[in-house]
Amino acid sequence: MKLIVANWKSNKTTPEAKEWLQEIFNFQFSIFNLKIILAASFIHLPILKESITPKSNISLAAQNVSPFPSGPYTGEVSAEMLTGLVDYVILGHSERRRYFRETNEMVAEKVKQASRYKIKPIVCLDEPYIESQIATLTNCCVEESIFAYEPLLAIGSGKPDNPERVNKISKRIKKLTNNAPVLYGGSVNAKNAKKIIQENYIDGLLVGNASLNPKEFTKIVRSA
Ligand code: PGA
Repeated sequence: MKLIVANWKSNKTTPEAKEWLQEIFNFQFSIFNLKIILAASFIHLPILKESITPKSNISLAAQNVSPFPSGPYTGEVSAEMLTGLVDYVILGHSERRRYFRETNEMVAEKVKQASRYKIKPIVCLDEPYIESQIATLTNCCVEESIFAYEPLLAIGSGKPDNPERVNKISKRIKKLTNNAPVLYGGSVNAKNAKKIIQENYIDGLLVGNASLNPKEFTKIVRSA
């Protein structure tokens, strides 16, 4: 089963979010062996959830979660609050590590919180830290997680890593994680998606900028 994640990041107003979903529904993919995961901002999740039917084969993801349980943590969204709303959560994205000073330890706490509430973490990793980033997660969480190889230089740059290298690194991540699913993210678009996803050890794609436009995103899904 290939996974294609649309990571909207900090984009889209509520009407734009609804419009995107409507356009995606209109495309009527015949999706075999493929799952679309939409990672939207917290504020859009309830609205998107209402519009998504089981037949549409789209699951929702959050882009972050609190490292703490529910309680006196002003401004945080706990994993418990996300139950019933999302099946996945993206954690440890390089933008969170860079702009919000997230450490491996904080990511590990978030992974634990998500796992406690049966929300599957999609943990982002990058060279040369892959081993240490995985090592901070406890064994139980590694087994329950999906990983995404996200080279910093490839994110938002228009310069994806080359597919052979991505395949090699994905193979290494699988070895370190007891064969967990591994996605690739970094400048994926409709032109390069097919070549990347065809590689043996890649289980899917994490798409940022190119997921914002439903037409472009559909082309990526079709190429998978
Ligand atoms: P990009 O983002 O597709 O815009 O490079 C990917 C990501 O950050 O996961």
